[in-house]
Amino acid sequence: MIGPLSFCIAGTDGETDVMTSAADLATTVTTTLVHRADQSRQWWRDAVIYQIYPRSFADANGDGIGDLPGITARLGHLARLGVDAVWLSPFYPSPQYDAGYDVADYRDVDPMFGTLADMDALLARAEQLGLRVIVDLVPNHTSDAHPWFGEALAGGPGSPARERYIFREGRGPDGSQPPTDWESVFGGPAWTRVTEPDGRLGQWYLHLFDTHQPDLNWEHPQVREEFLDVLRFWTERGVAGFRIDVAHGLIKDQSFPDWAGHREMVSAEETAEHSGAQAPMWDQPGVHQVYRQWREFLGRFDPEPILVAEAWVADEHALAKYVRPDEMHQAFNFQFLTTPWDATQLRATIQTSLREMDSVGAPTTWVLSNHDVVRAASRLGLAQTGKGPNGIGAEDPQPDHELGLRRARAALLLMLALPGSAYLYQGEELGLPEHTALPDEVRQDPTFARTDGQVKGRDGCRVPIPWEKAAPAYGFSPTGAAWLPQPESFADLAADVQRGDPASTYELVRKALGIRREWNLGSGSLAWVEGLPVDSANVLTFINRDVLVLVNLGEESVPLPQDLRVLVSSTTADDVSRLGPDEAVWAVVPRAQEEED
Ligand code: NOJ
Ligand code: CA
Repeated sequence: MIGPLSFCIAGTDGETDVMTSAADLATTVTTTLVHRADQSRQWWRDAVIYQIYPRSFADANGDGIGDLPGITARLGHLARLGVDAVWLSPFYPSPQYDAGYDVADYRDVDPMFGTLADMDALLARAEQLGLRVIVDLVPNHTSDAHPWFGEALAGGPGSPARERYIFREGRGPDGSQPPTDWESVFGGPAWTRVTEPDGRLGQWYLHLFDTHQPDLNWEHPQVREEFLDVLRFWTERGVAGFRIDVAHGLIKDQSFPDWAGHREMVSAEETAEHSGAQAPMWDQPGVHQVYRQWREFLGRFDPEPILVAEAWVADEHALAKYVRPDEMHQAFNFQFLTTPWDATQLRATIQTSLREMDSVGAPTTWVLSNHDVVRAASRLGLAQTGKGPNGIGAEDPQPDHELGLRRARAALLLMLALPGSAYLYQGEELGLPEHTALPDEVRQDPTFARTDGQVKGRDGCRVPIPWEKAAPAYGFSPTGAAWLPQPESFADLAADVQRGDPASTYELVRKALGIRREWNLGSGSLAWVEGLPVDSANVLTFINRDVLVLVNLGEESVPLPQDLRVLVSSTTADDVSRLGPDEAVWAVVPRAQEEED
């Protein structure tokens, strides 16, 4: 048993690099300040933002697909949970070849999800509950059902309508080879040949994603004007921000060189076959000019909506460019999401993220799950952690669910204790696992078909979420219909089972969010702590304001200081003298405890 512990951090709210050790402490505690508290009080700098995937959140009309009235009816759950804002994945009119990331009309709601009036009702309800609403903007590509693409096809080669997209002649004597060797993110070639109005095979158009998602030509002034107007449209309707899809893809190297690399969704890792040259379609310097113009434009609105970059770029340094003071407000930290469950690597990612974002005055964001990756509660239960596979099938190695959930709960406490803004993906607060045994026939992610089923794709994290254990479709839909089948394991994870149960993941997250708010952790500081009895290379130990955070990523339990006043713990075990493997705890920094006593 370790004796009582106390140490003091000089200065207020942990904003110091002074280290002290208390007289009665056998070891010397040192703190290394990595990030100072943020005084600016802009809401988005420390916001907890909850991602709603509309088709899988709540279905009001019973057709098995989630919709806007369903969301509105369930917003109370999120207010009670204690998040600050929601981000809605696309709900715009779309043929749904990529679950709505193929937009046919940027200023309307797909009838499948409701109407513009439903969106207004959702915004009004959110405002009543004190929740801000962020919408998804997809500027890299439209749907092939967008009127502009119809005009481009009808106009034929050389027509002005084709200039809004990226059409090129094919290679080879009869133009039957694609203009470059680029590969689609979803697999297969990134170019598709069209049949011209005269009935002959003709030009090719670029689509970095599915065939039904033609890339726009951001060199064209009409494209730029159009998106400013879309930003205006939703800002005037009352949204608080925009999540920018594929923010690093808008500008292409205009020489269109060959580049046989392949980039996976979310990470910037590339396959080997290319020359190592800068990818001609990703992270081109010209994208920054687009966001400068947007920021300047949005600055005219009060309140000014925020811009959040979805950009899978090489590293934190490249990412920081997207959030310079005159560009976007935030960028998703996929480096954090893809870091393996390893203390040394996580420590490095956290430190580098804070350093790089601090260097441009932007908040760091933290994210563990979204609609493009295997859910954290399953990913962290795989033999190899990190980015994880693109989907899991019944024949694939299965995650250890118990281990995954234990780690996911610890990871949530880690994430929510870090200064900056944090993202939660719907169902993450319930500790939902991935559906790892979806039958192939129900899979809808275009990746599955484009890779001949080699890559399972993202459907497993998009399964409708459970609200009520005893209701049809676990309360997702009044008729019991669900566009993807739900696993039986969802029954005991339903929101109504977890609410009020202190051992549940839902109550863990709710409690952590309450403490985070009360202690201002989101705008707080971060100092690594060394010299505590728990010291081990496998334990992450830091202080944010007056909260001591310990996360054990090792295989052995470690002793906790005696009399530690625990605020929240990822485990429900009664023994507070030790921190077990894959467990996390927040406690009052002993100094603060003494002052209070
Ligand atoms: C990123 C989105 O998150 C993903 O779901 C989508 O498939 C691609 N962008 C293409 O829009
Ligand atoms: Ca519906």
